[in-house]
Amino acid sequence: MLKIQDINVYYGNIQALKGVSMEINQGEIVTLIGANGAGKSTLLKTISGLLKPKQGEVLYEGQSIGGKAAQAIVKLGISHVPEGRRVFANMSVEENLQLGAFLRKDKEGIKQEMKKVYELFPRLLERQKQLSGTLSGGEQQMLAMGRALMAKPKLLLLDEPSMGLAPLLVKQIFNIIEEINKAGTTVLLVEQNANMALSIANRAYVVETGRIVLSGNASELTASDEIKNAYLGGH
Ligand SMILES: Nc1ncnc2c1ncn2[C@@H]1O[C@H](COP(=O)(O)OP(=O)(O)OP(=O)(O)O)[C@@H](O)[C@H]1O
Ligand SMILES: [Mg+2]
Repeated sequence: MLKIQDINVYYGNIQALKGVSMEINQGEIVTLIGANGAGKSTLLKTISGLLKPKQGEVLYEGQSIGGKAAQAIVKLGISHVPEGRRVFANMSVEENLQLGAFLRKDKEGIKQEMKKVYELFPRLLERQKQLSGTLSGGEQQMLAMGRALMAKPKLLLLDEPSMGLAPLLVKQIFNIIEEINKAGTTVLLVEQNANMALSIANRAYVVETGRIVLSGNASELTASDEIKNAYLGGH
């Protein structure tokens, strides 16, 4: 579904991604793990068109998208839930969700999507008219995910959805990610919570200072001493 070939991405003179290659097959949950500053968010931003690779290719369903505008990439079926949620604080839950469908014209389909999102996140339905800025952190994460789903993505990019959430809520968010995947959406999940991420993923890539240093099946990586020591607290 997605094939990234040897990309280099820069912020001015600073090179944040160095020859990164990876792929995602349709139907998978793939996780990207790595320390602060490794380049995880940069990779998601490059896929969703917020950043352009200086060299290399991003192929989505066989088509090069490395030079396309972010909006065009959403239209092709890739939605990005950024780090830190970024909901529109002065708009209601419902208005935020509607914004997620801004590129769609099919009114009936949008209604259906809204229904599905409220089924997935009953908490959002209870808070339909509430201003988003007054939601809890967990509820804002649900809203950010729901808003991305309103575009009916084929590939969902999630940047640290569990950040700052209480353990019980983290569990709930991960369950929902699995549900979204079972319903047919491919997921690329960036996480610092490597334990949880590996537990739901098919495959994983480990990023260190702009490079992929390890990749493999999630179960293999979970068992590897290198991963245990560096990312799973040595357990
Ligand atoms: N807007 C920017 N301008 C300059 N450098 C940046 C910018 N954004 C990120 N960087 C640098 O690029 C590198 C990768 O950052 P990135 O945000 O992708 O890391 P990350 O793996 O997502 O980290 P975190 O886990 O802290 O979110 C870091 O060295 C960072 O300082
Ligand atoms: Mg990040």
